[in-house]
Amino acid sequence: MNFSDDMKRAASALQAWIERAESREDSVLMQPRMAALARDLKLDELMREGGLTGARLSAFLETCLEASHRIQHPASMGHQVSCPHPASFIGGLMDVMTNNPMAIYEMGPAAATVEFAVVNWLLRKAGWEPHPWPGAGRKDEAHAAGVLTHGGSLAQLTALAAARAHADPEAWENGNDPALTVIAPPDAHYSISRAMGILGLGQKALSPAPCDALGRVRPDALDSQIRRLKAEGRRIMAVTANAGCTAAGLYDDFNAIADVCEAHDLWLHIDGAHGAAAFITSRYRHLMDGAEHARSLVWDAHKMLRAPGLCAAVLMRDHRDLDHAFQQKASYLFHDKEQIGFDAISRTVECTKAGIGLKFFTGLAGQGEAALAAYVESRFDLGARAAKMISAHPDFELAVEPQANIVCFALRGLDDHGHLELRKKLLATGRAYITTTEFAGRRWLRLVFMNPETTLGDVEEALALLLELAKNET
Ligand SMILES: Cc1ncc(COP(=O)(O)O)c(C=O)c1O
Repeated sequence: MNFSDDMKRAASALQAWIERAESREDSVLMQPRMAALARDLKLDELMREGGLTGARLSAFLETCLEASHRIQHPASMGHQVSCPHPASFIGGLMDVMTNNPMAIYEMGPAAATVEFAVVNWLLRKAGWEPHPWPGAGRKDEAHAAGVLTHGGSLAQLTALAAARAHADPEAWENGNDPALTVIAPPDAHYSISRAMGILGLGQKALSPAPCDALGRVRPDALDSQIRRLKAEGRRIMAVTANAGCTAAGLYDDFNAIADVCEAHDLWLHIDGAHGAAAFITSRYRHLMDGAEHARSLVWDAHKMLRAPGLCAAVLMRDHRDLDHAFQQKASYLFHDKEQIGFDAISRTVECTKAGIGLKFFTGLAGQGEAALAAYVESRFDLGARAAKMISAHPDFELAVEPQANIVCFALRGLDDHGHLELRKKLLATGRAYITTTEFAGRRWLRLVFMNPETTLGDVEEALALLLELAKNET
């Protein structure tokens, strides 16, 4: 194997693939049948014999990339997956090639320092006191803290583990008190209910928050629900709220919810996996007003902050909450020593933890925070402009005025199943990629603007294509 030659082959194949996607030359996606793809990629043969180098590597890359979803294609408007900033690729490469499991400082001082710095950047944007550099502040000093995780789902699990440790410090040792309860909006991302299962709390411990017709928490009704649950003997462990719900990107009223939580001394958790990006903007910052009162916050860098997956953050207003989330004994890792840096290992589910802060940092530093903020604003603006175009169109119906970069809409006269079928046909053309979702009791088509190159023209083309496909059907 000639490593240097293979690196050049891989880099140029990837760069050309991205450029073709960006210029709309290639299809957004092709979906060959899996067994046929495995055969074309010669997977079994390569695993058996090796030899993935040189010309064979180039052939493999070509087939592999042909069957990869082109996130960089401006007509890819389907999921909340970042269109990574090119500068972030360097960080990803550094992470993979150095392979430093940096949750123990001595196993990755640079990656640990970079993660510390980007977490503090997020904390400052959230309006919280950043974590002092090790040795610079007193241990008992009040400040916030956070850790990067492989995705928002792990971040939610960490936040709920911390909330449980706060509500019932004995649970780690003795198991869960069956009275423990989490109040969450029914539209909360499924990672909340999954965390309930993983933590052994069970779905029965999830109490649906009272919401309006658009799935937003009703703070007035929340208070009476809390009183009722308490009267029933339930121990409320946390109330969760959405900063950009998955379906339509709507935000809850954090100030009002925080008031209710404060009156009952309850842990407020905000899922800002997607929408916390509003923090870094000036024109949409108001959507996060009141979020500073939360006790925990999830914020994915691999959604609106243009970091490649996976890179999410779980942030806590009080660092002690994060420190108490897990309690582990492992003499090979945890022992007294002079702390030159910081060991994040006690704060994370992961033991071997990759240096994922590197790809986030290199992407951020490659453009600077003003450019990143302009990107977020431009995508939220596109949400509003697309919604305006859709509501002005006689054949389409808008689900709700978007607050962010997620737009749900329907074709008039088409039922839920019809929308699923229409999307299938659209995807088969390879010309655009969109999703569908249930929202407010119906299924809608859904656009998510993550790609910085997507224009109103791309939306217009996708709408025209949908109409053409629907017409051909009748
Ligand atoms: C609001 C929200 N929270 C959490 C998640 C889960 O994040 P991840 O996909 O990073 O696990 C998602 C995923 O789309 C989401 O939309």
